[in-house]
Amino acid sequence: MTGGLSRRAVVGSTLALAACDRTIEAQAATLELPPLRSAAPFPVGTCVQAFQLEDRALSPLIAAQVSQLTAEWEMKMEYIVQDDGSLRFDAPDQIAAFARTHGMRFFGHTLVWYAQEPPAFKRLDTGRIAFDAAYRNYILAVVGRYRGQAVGWDVVNEAIDDEGDGWRDCLWSQRLGPLEHMVLAFQHAREADPEAVLFLNDYNLENRPKKRVAFLKLVEALLKAGAPLGGLGTQTHVAADLPAGRLSAAITDLASFGLPIHLSEMDVSLRRAKGLGHDKAKLEAGQGRVYAEAAEAFSRLPAQQRFAFTHWGLRDPDSWLNYKDPGDAPLLFDRRGRPKAAAAAWIGGLR
Ligand code: G3I
Repeated sequence: MTGGLSRRAVVGSTLALAACDRTIEAQAATLELPPLRSAAPFPVGTCVQAFQLEDRALSPLIAAQVSQLTAEWEMKMEYIVQDDGSLRFDAPDQIAAFARTHGMRFFGHTLVWYAQEPPAFKRLDTGRIAFDAAYRNYILAVVGRYRGQAVGWDVVNEAIDDEGDGWRDCLWSQRLGPLEHMVLAFQHAREADPEAVLFLNDYNLENRPKKRVAFLKLVEALLKAGAPLGGLGTQTHVAADLPAGRLSAAITDLASFGLPIHLSEMDVSLRRAKGLGHDKAKLEAGQGRVYAEAAEAFSRLPAQQRFAFTHWGLRDPDSWLNYKDPGDAPLLFDRRGRPKAAAAAWIGGLR
């Protein structure tokens, strides 16, 4: 990779040099790391919003660092479905075009989510036929538009309730059935695109083992029902105090079906790491440890199960975690797009 030096040697020496200079800013300025996409033996992604692709600082960082893009919100119903029922695709088309231009994979997120129930669907009469047709037409229109471009889709997002007691109740389950609405979504997506890998995606699968059990039972139910489920997404929104081993255990469990795994939305919050107090050095050390464990655990999957590793953003200020509570630093790059020690730790965890 670098004059034959191993990845770990490069990272180790980089960190040693950086540690010589105490200030975080100086450290960030001295970290010389390979692009994430070059360091990893699998696709590396980030989430994006269309406007960011025109940002003269961020756009080149995205192009240099990753090989896959996920729309952060502009391929969800909240953006696409207008109140009159019409669909808008300007932003998703822009993201798809950027991916195509830069030779990147494009990942669709997300088709059916309990958190999004647009008025255009809610006001449909309770008759099953009309609703079923609108549901199928939506999925055919969205997935069909990006056929041959999108490498995969989060077909159903966050179907398991927070405690892991069962499946969420939502407009889709009420109108089309608790399991049936999910099976239908996978079938409609497959009808629209015979090639795309179709995912079930959820969060807290590492933090809450009970939720992971419920998620895996849903996987079994979907496969038994004949849903063309082709991959499992584990979002991995975690904090710097995540106990060692939790992430590895989750990835091992999720891989037990032999399906491709998408580590789909990783960030490692410092502000939510209640177990580490406010000591910045401890928080950053914990963050690096968690990123390294995720990289190592994902690297150790069989190659055919390493679908992609997606960071939910690249620069700290762009993170959704800062929308309401500015000041978190959950990602691999600082506000100026310079790699942090967390980036060195993630690369150091790769195998
Ligand atoms: O940019 C518009 C702005 O022009 C407008 O004035 C404003 C008010 O409507 O909305 C702004 O868009 C917001 C967008 O984030 C960009 O900030 C949307 O309202 C808001 O809904 C959207 O939130 C996204 C959220 O999902 C809901 O879609 C977050 O960016 C995104 O990070 C978050 O991502 C989710 C994953 O999809 C699923 N897993 C959890 C993850 C974090 O919540």
